[in-house]
Amino acid sequence: MDAEQFCKNGQKMVEYISTYLEQIRDRQVVHNVTPGYMRSLLPNEAPKDPEDFAEVFKDIDKVIMPGVTHWHSPRFHGYFAAGNSYPSILGDMLSDAIGCIGFSWATSPACTELEVITTDWLGKMLALPEEFLHRSPGRGGGVIQSTASETVLLCLLAARTKMVEKYEKVYTNLDEMEVMAKLVGYTSDQSNSSVGRSGLLGAVRMRKLETDEKFSLRGETLREAIAEDKAKGLIPFFLCATLGTTGTCAFDNLEELGPICKEEDMWLHIDAAYAGSAFVCPEFRHFMKGVEYADTFSINPHKWMLVNFDLSVMWIKDRSLLVDAFNVDPIYLRHENAGKGAPDYRHWQIPLGRRFRSLKLWFMLRSYGVTGVQAYIRKHVSLAKQFEKMVLNDSRFEVIADVVMGLVCFRLKGNNNKTERLLEEILQDGRIYLIPAIVHEIYTLRLAICAERTNSDDIAFSFSVIKSCADRVMKRFPPSEDIRNAVNGQIDNIA
Ligand SMILES: Cc1ncc(COP(=O)(O)O)c(C=O)c1O
Repeated sequence: MDAEQFCKNGQKMVEYISTYLEQIRDRQVVHNVTPGYMRSLLPNEAPKDPEDFAEVFKDIDKVIMPGVTHWHSPRFHGYFAAGNSYPSILGDMLSDAIGCIGFSWATSPACTELEVITTDWLGKMLALPEEFLHRSPGRGGGVIQSTASETVLLCLLAARTKMVEKYEKVYTNLDEMEVMAKLVGYTSDQSNSSVGRSGLLGAVRMRKLETDEKFSLRGETLREAIAEDKAKGLIPFFLCATLGTTGTCAFDNLEELGPICKEEDMWLHIDAAYAGSAFVCPEFRHFMKGVEYADTFSINPHKWMLVNFDLSVMWIKDRSLLVDAFNVDPIYLRHENAGKGAPDYRHWQIPLGRRFRSLKLWFMLRSYGVTGVQAYIRKHVSLAKQFEKMVLNDSRFEVIADVVMGLVCFRLKGNNNKTERLLEEILQDGRIYLIPAIVHEIYTLRLAICAERTNSDDIAFSFSVIKSCADRVMKRFPPSEDIRNAVNGQIDNIA
């Protein structure tokens, strides 16, 4: 493909993308294919000779689109929002064209410097404590990682190194491996599965602690766990608290947990992957009270801030805890400007290579402005509130967690299996998509507001689909069961 063909095909692709996104509402939200569907549509080998791009283009609709789940459809309510916006897509295009691998400042200074500036911008937009910013006189700063999961692992490994170094001095008879075998980290029973997995990958114990009736991890629970573990000779070293849990968007109590982490010299990481974006609006910042106790904090603009995957931002108060923990410095990566006022981000992450991801964040922030991002978040929250109201107006349903962001957790009153059947009906119907969660043994459906284009009519549409599916489910359950539950004044949540 030469430059002229690139411009022609590029224009066609941009038009295809904008039509796809503007008309996405009309597509069936979930694919209708079975595993291996593509085998019969494509040859077994790569083409021997070059093909015209027009032929490739035709296959987008024929081969690709049938197997796509349309995450940016207003009918898609699964998981959490996945970021997307035109400026972000343009940022990725330019990043791909520049194609630098920005592992050090010297490999492409703009790549590092724009990341320093945009992570500071974002940190200020969220009102993070100054110590997290590159501009502060301290040792803090932000960095773009690929995912929140990778960030948790990185923080856990840095915390592990810090504690091993400390305890090797205390237990002079123990070596590094023996100290590691005593480490114990904590998280709540509501945290994302990636936190438990980080414990596995980092070869340390990770205890999941019980949450209260609001699905929030409380200080007293942590304190008791620490006391138990210390009595067994273990060394508490890490807590991953969550602001906006995956199941119900619950918030751990940082004001209680933070001081305990300080007393115990434990690393406090805050995973605010989804809900963190909302702190751009002052009215939601009360949920992050206690953030000043954190060593590290992360959010995913690729979830709820209009930036395409992958772009997760992590801030650290003392970067030396990362840089020194994993420092390898072979001669081919050194440069004469190292350590002179700009980070070499390879020390702040697990891989060596890194993309120019800050471009898409920069394009988005400049195109929307702080007010545009705030408006987007507020719109999603108000749509969630609209849906909550509709659910509560139908006496067959209940909402099981506070609706404070763009997520509503709702269920049919009564046994779990009723709501399980409801989900089956909804998925069979196929007009909308959502997923379940089980929290404290309660089976619930999660309706997340995901697409930028979702509007009030879409929410009414989604609820009408849910209602018609609920009608079908209710026919299968004898009313006597509901009456019995109502009389007993209880909800039987046992599956
Ligand atoms: C609270 C929370 N943390 C972490 C993650 C994982 O995010 P990522 O895919 O960026 O690793 C999720 C995903 O939904 C999440 O909800």
